[in-house]
Amino acid sequence: MRTIQTTQLDIPPGMIHLGIGQPDPSLLPLALMKKAAEHRLGHNDTSLLAYGAEPGDGYFRLTLAQFLSEHYHKHVAANDLFVTSGASQGLDLICTLFTKPGDTIFVEEPSYFLALHIFRDHGLNIIGLPMDEDGLIVEVLEENIAQHNPAFLYTIPTFHNPSSITLSAARRERLVHLSQEHNLLIVADEVYHLLAYNTAPPQPLANYTDVGTIFSIGSFSKILAPGLRLGWIQANQALLDRLVKSGLLESGGGLNPFTSKLVQSALELGLQLDHLANLKAVYGQRMVFLSAALRRHLGNSTSFREPSGGFFIWLRLPEQIDAEAFLSEAWQHDVGFQPGVRFSSRQSLKNYARLSFSFYDTPELETAAGRLADILRSSL
Ligand SMILES: Cc1ncc(COP(=O)(O)O)c(C=O)c1O
Repeated sequence: MRTIQTTQLDIPPGMIHLGIGQPDPSLLPLALMKKAAEHRLGHNDTSLLAYGAEPGDGYFRLTLAQFLSEHYHKHVAANDLFVTSGASQGLDLICTLFTKPGDTIFVEEPSYFLALHIFRDHGLNIIGLPMDEDGLIVEVLEENIAQHNPAFLYTIPTFHNPSSITLSAARRERLVHLSQEHNLLIVADEVYHLLAYNTAPPQPLANYTDVGTIFSIGSFSKILAPGLRLGWIQANQALLDRLVKSGLLESGGGLNPFTSKLVQSALELGLQLDHLANLKAVYGQRMVFLSAALRRHLGNSTSFREPSGGFFIWLRLPEQIDAEAFLSEAWQHDVGFQPGVRFSSRQSLKNYARLSFSFYDTPELETAAGRLADILRSSL
């Protein structure tokens, strides 16, 4: 008999599914949230159970603004923040308010496969633009703007999902200029920005939102817990106004007021900061471990770049391998991953696999690398 499902995941016993880009359950901060909840509920303030202010609770936004100012090394104004129920919900709301079915949008090729799903739900025509080791090739973007007149560009500038590539500082500047010059709306999904293992990435696109054409999306899913369903959008007043005045907000009030007050306590008590430091150390170690295991087991039939932050290794398989067929085989041997084609807006990238090291500890990562190598050897 199947058990009653409580989380999004339903992994067969014995399976090591490196396709899961979520935090390891052992890294989910239950004790931290208990402390935060006790602290917040001790205030005896009923307002956290009322319909919330449309942009989000003002004190939460002040606390979040202070946290982000420290990490972004630039002042973030609380008024430039809008609270969401996570990055996915923020993306969906932007699509609702800034696009209509049939509009064209630009994404990177590859791009986060579940964002592609949201865009398809909105009936958008998706065009993928190429990347290289410095991120989106901004010249190609420029060449395509006039012809396609996109509703927006969706980009993941830092520790990209799935490629883990980070857009260079020079290209960020260029992108911001293009955005201003062509009045091109940029939706920057920056959910991994705070997860650098050692060296800080170039400044987030959040630091350029004063130009008036940029949304920066952030989330507590990767730095605290995805079940909180809590994130934010940073943008200038005119853009945020469109969100704040939406029917969704007028009817339901601000998003997630209860959770945001608990997270406010986690921020105020310094608990989020300690947790983030631990996550960076753990993910950094796992990345080094999985990279070494892949090199040891797979040798030079495959290649990848070592990420400097985030959750993913983007593995290039031999040209003749179709990762979807390879996955069916892998699944029979209790190992899984996300095949590259899911990240493509044009059914390409068939010989790539996204491996995540966020969900499993090193013994499972070692076993998974060994299983993948065995299957690859028999497929060649
Ligand atoms: C690039 C990117 N954006 C958004 C999300 C989803 O974020 P949230 O849980 O805040 O909706 C993810 C999660 O994998 C992601 O990788």
